[in-house]
Amino acid sequence: MLLPYAVLSTLLPLLVFAQDGGIDGPTSSAAAAGYNCDPTKCVLPNCNCASTSPPGGLKPSDTPQFIVFTADDAVQSYTLDAVNQFLAQRKNPNGCPIKMTYFTSLNFTNYTLVTDWYVAGNEIADHTMTHVGTPPAEEINGNLIALNALAGIPLSSIQGFRAPFLNYSADTLKLLAQAQFLYDSSSAASIPVTDPGTDAFWPYTLDNGMANNCLSVPGTCQGEPKLPGFWEIPMYAFFDDRGVNGPHLMDPWLDNANGASTINDTATLNYMKNTFTAHYSNNRQPIGLYTHPIHLSTTYPGVNPSQSTIAMINNFLDWAQQQQDVWIVSNQQLLDFMRHPVPASQLNTLDSFKCTTPQVDASLQICNGIPKNEAGLLSHCDFSDFPFYTCYGCPSVEPSPQNPNPSQDTSNGQQTRFRLPANCSTAFWDPIAGKCLCNQGSCAFVDNSRPIGANGANLTGGGTGDAFVTGTGAQPAASFIPFNAALSSSPNALVAIVLGALGALVLGAGL
Ligand SMILES: *[C@@H]1O[C@H](CO)[C@@H](O)[C@H](O)[C@H]1NC(C)=O
Ligand SMILES: *[C@@H]1O[C@H](CO)[C@@H](O)[C@H](O)[C@H]1NC(C)=O
Ligand SMILES: *[C@@H]1O[C@H](CO)[C@@H](O)[C@H](O)[C@H]1NC(C)=O
Ligand SMILES: *[C@@H]1O[C@H](CO)[C@@H](O)[C@H](O)[C@H]1NC(C)=O
Ligand SMILES: *[C@@H]1O[C@H](CO)[C@@H](O)[C@H](O)[C@H]1NC(C)=O
Ligand SMILES: *[C@@H]1O[C@H](CO)[C@@H](O)[C@H](O)[C@H]1NC(C)=O
Repeated sequence: MLLPYAVLSTLLPLLVFAQDGGIDGPTSSAAAAGYNCDPTKCVLPNCNCASTSPPGGLKPSDTPQFIVFTADDAVQSYTLDAVNQFLAQRKNPNGCPIKMTYFTSLNFTNYTLVTDWYVAGNEIADHTMTHVGTPPAEEINGNLIALNALAGIPLSSIQGFRAPFLNYSADTLKLLAQAQFLYDSSSAASIPVTDPGTDAFWPYTLDNGMANNCLSVPGTCQGEPKLPGFWEIPMYAFFDDRGVNGPHLMDPWLDNANGASTINDTATLNYMKNTFTAHYSNNRQPIGLYTHPIHLSTTYPGVNPSQSTIAMINNFLDWAQQQQDVWIVSNQQLLDFMRHPVPASQLNTLDSFKCTTPQVDASLQICNGIPKNEAGLLSHCDFSDFPFYTCYGCPSVEPSPQNPNPSQDTSNGQQTRFRLPANCSTAFWDPIAGKCLCNQGSCAFVDNSRPIGANGANLTGGGTGDAFVTGTGAQPAASFIPFNAALSSSPNALVAIVLGALGALVLGAGL
């Protein structure tokens, strides 16, 4: 249980960080974009023109319909619980658990849970250290350094960035390309796919500049900035009954639909389905659930999210997954497909779509991001604003942009731990012994995916989320379960008795 002061301080990020960087109308136009790209010169895998058509000349009917699932901000047990209540019970058409992208900022992050989430197969991406808009290089690069040092995330696997408040500049994109990021995902696709002037482009490289947010970000578009091989993954808005005038980008379920004055889950579900269908029955541009999961955490003391909203989101995913060739993916998976486009029936041939479990003897005591192995081995770093846990030794001071990798704290005679080297993967690294348990590919991972069959097979995923119930049904809360195992149905003990009123205020502030 958290102490009250800790509860209070963990509420702070909600107040500070909950603004969603929403949009209220088109953020681009063809004239503002001034975009030119020659597809005979710009070719995959490292160049792709901004286009509304699927990559590789695929017919829309052979193209997978991707639903990108992302979460932003601090990683805590509460936020992983919130994500798990939507994804833990689901599988993609190849039988693999769902992977998602976590844009991680570091204030209030529990580093060991980042390790666990990564080792369970998810993508960890950069959201600056302290959650600032138009960030300086130290905020962006410090996040990489601290996640590598204190969560053991290989630098090579942190490939993506999203700007806090979706607030980026031309310089932000340049800094990212300089630091060898593969992609940014901060811009909006703000015009419906059914509009001839739609800006819902498939992900593209900036060889010929940006083509999104041309009306809102100075110094971008008209061919700028030119960053060869660096990808932009637009965030695809949902549109309510007002069409282009009713866009919903992040956490759409926290918005009022159709200009109404209260949240109406039925109306939200309707427009989410309608926008999905518009994508699915046209050029199958991806769609995304871009979440701030803390808003939907049923385990966060004082926050009491609407069970009807949680059920509505699961209902949407159930409905979408019953359709052919629908895949819920991380941004890395989406880009793997962009760079190597294959028909939906062959998605299983791409490595990132397979599911592999690291083969580590469960009886081994090794601090590696696998809860069975690491139990009892975590260091508890007792900082007053947010105590966290890590396998990699507590830093003597909290990481900051000026000092993202402080020296290890040995003030009480603690043994220093060994940080992840570049040639060992996280699950096999023993930070206490400083030893890699696996040095060859053959002992490392086992493939658990199943064949998805020939073209034309029934390639629907397995959704077993809650049915859509309105009202205040007492749904069991989800607890963090590593490795995407099915959810337990035991009710969670952390009920909202403390700070209930403050929690409501906080959620209200997020709108
Ligand atoms: C932090 O991680 C530890 C170890 O997994 C866990 O026991 C604790 O509940 C976590 N706390 C939060 C707030 O995430
Ligand atoms: C973006 O961030 C910068 C720097 O933090 C700030 O000055 C600016 O007002 C922000 N812009 C928006 C639209 O929030
Ligand atoms: C909620 O939206 C649905 C669908 O648009 C509508 O039929 C219903 O009347 C709305 N409910 C309220 C309370 O406004
Ligand atoms: C975030 O962490 C940095 C470094 O420890 C600290 O200086 C800053 O005050 C923190 N910001 C918030 C909002 O807690
Ligand atoms: C990994 O790198 C370290 C030194 O950086 C070296 O001692 C070790 O042998 C390498 N391991 C493998 C498997 O290449
Ligand atoms: C695919 O499977 C789903 C769920 O099992 C079923 O409802 C649907 O009718 C099947 N579609 C085809 C085209 O076989």
